[in-house]
Amino acid sequence: MKKFLELISEEMGKAFEAAGYQAELGKVTISNRPDLCEYQCNGAMAGAKQYHKAPLMIAKEVAEKLQGNEVFSEVSAVAPGFLNLKVTEKFVKDYLQEMRADAKFGLDMPQRPQMIIVDYGGPNIAKPLHVGHLRPAIIGESIKRICRFAGHKVLGDIHLGDWGLQMGLIATELKKRHPELPYFDESYQGEYPKEAPFTISELEEIYPLASAKSKEDDAYKAEAMEATYKLQTGVPGMRALWNHIMNVSVTDLKRNYDDLKVEFDLWKGESDVQDIIPDMVAKMKKDGFAHESEGALVVDVKEETDTKEMPPCMILKSDGAALYNTTDLATIMDRMEQYQPDKLIYVTDKRQNLYFEQIFRCARKTGLVKPETQLIHIGFGTMNSTGGKPFKTREGGVMRLENLIREINEEMYRKITENREMEEGEARETSRIVALSAVKYGDLSNQASKDYIFDIDRFTSFEGDTGPYILYTIVRIKSILKKYGEQSGENSVPAKMVLQEAAGESEKGLMLEIAKFNAMMEAAYEEVAPHKICAYIYDLANAFNHFYHETKILTEEDSEKQAGWIALLTLTRDVLEVCIDLLGFSSPERM
Ligand code: ARG
Repeated sequence: MKKFLELISEEMGKAFEAAGYQAELGKVTISNRPDLCEYQCNGAMAGAKQYHKAPLMIAKEVAEKLQGNEVFSEVSAVAPGFLNLKVTEKFVKDYLQEMRADAKFGLDMPQRPQMIIVDYGGPNIAKPLHVGHLRPAIIGESIKRICRFAGHKVLGDIHLGDWGLQMGLIATELKKRHPELPYFDESYQGEYPKEAPFTISELEEIYPLASAKSKEDDAYKAEAMEATYKLQTGVPGMRALWNHIMNVSVTDLKRNYDDLKVEFDLWKGESDVQDIIPDMVAKMKKDGFAHESEGALVVDVKEETDTKEMPPCMILKSDGAALYNTTDLATIMDRMEQYQPDKLIYVTDKRQNLYFEQIFRCARKTGLVKPETQLIHIGFGTMNSTGGKPFKTREGGVMRLENLIREINEEMYRKITENREMEEGEARETSRIVALSAVKYGDLSNQASKDYIFDIDRFTSFEGDTGPYILYTIVRIKSILKKYGEQSGENSVPAKMVLQEAAGESEKGLMLEIAKFNAMMEAAYEEVAPHKICAYIYDLANAFNHFYHETKILTEEDSEKQAGWIALLTLTRDVLEVCIDLLGFSSPERM
């Protein structure tokens, strides 16, 4: 379905043509003087030079051609040559009618769906999720949903950090505590126990302790490195222990991500590609891309046009060990083989910008991807506390994600139960739903690359540019629709309702906001920009509330008019619900 502005631009283009000018001049934009008009066209100004004519003259000629036009209810040529425009109520209504009949509200589906992999989350095994894991989870999840809604085949991959020194550290500490466990006995031939020798809380206690010890005690560190090496070379006891660590950790991670409504399709990790690293490295050497530099193996990724420093991409350290880079490159190779993606999107902290540029260049240069494969890094900014500093607990440590979420849930519960009577179970559930909207909207309403301040007070407010405000608006619509259903029974099936032409300013304003959906979605997808959805629904919610405050919907006596409003409300609700789902949250029935 064509975009609203596209349609009116075409109509304007025809008028330019009819007046003897180039159709391209008819580009229409949203008015920057909403007090005067809804849309404007500056084509007459642009054409003045080319046609050696005063812009106002051109504008007047074009306006003349649009008298009695079905799309425009008002066209005025004003000095120095603007065309100020309003569209007819009928045109808007017809557009919305068409939107309503389309499952994607007018967003065109691609001719050939792409295969897209979104790499996000990236937690490390055995370390609890902390606030630093919030942004990649929220942003990545939304990007995944946007790509999917845009009609593509999408896989979200968590890309676990499951192969590093942390595994050796845990093994070392565990051995100190329980040297009798069979995992540490290299002559052991029997079956290893099914049950893990630790719980998640023990694991979370062991890891930071072992990590701290290794920093102070060289022998301890050497032991941990030895254990890591044993794991990586496949010593059975270490593998068995690793499986336990994975199972216990992943179960806990799933629970945490579930609470955030973050769902990964693939739970792959760094460990999954270790076996293919030797082949990849051998090929890079054979093809002449990888060469030795100060003992390490590197691929040069500098280009002539670079204005900034571009260090080579390291493939193997001087001791022959693989590193973060190596694993990411091998993962690209694996993904290309397994899923043939057209596009890979990575969501990480923007401090990894240079890193991903090196990786992408290296992958292209060495032929791991096709020339047309799109490699995109979405680098996000830092989430700061209200003091402007990175987020810390009261004690100064890194705050656990679970605790942060619990704090917001509590705050929301307090607000909700203060506002209205609600049974305990529902109040808790509603608080969780609304709190999630507060956190996610608070994050996603900023352009991802920007730093932002995580301000619980502001984010949980029911007023202003917040998640709870959006949900409040949806709940308000749901409640009107429910009451309408109760009072009119049989006739209340929304599909039977027919949209009417807007009877007033605020109603038309709402309709015009809704009509921006497909253009907004296209931009959100193409620019990988969830914040565009937030901006859209904020405007839409404002337009709806403005209309709501001016209109007595439930007591309207003209039943056709009333049904038209109900149809409009239903569409508003549906569009808002689709949008919040793309942001990764949902709405409660009441709040
Ligand atoms: N596990 C890494 C870390 O904690 C993040 C992984 C990001 N994704 C990637 N494909 N490199 O720093």
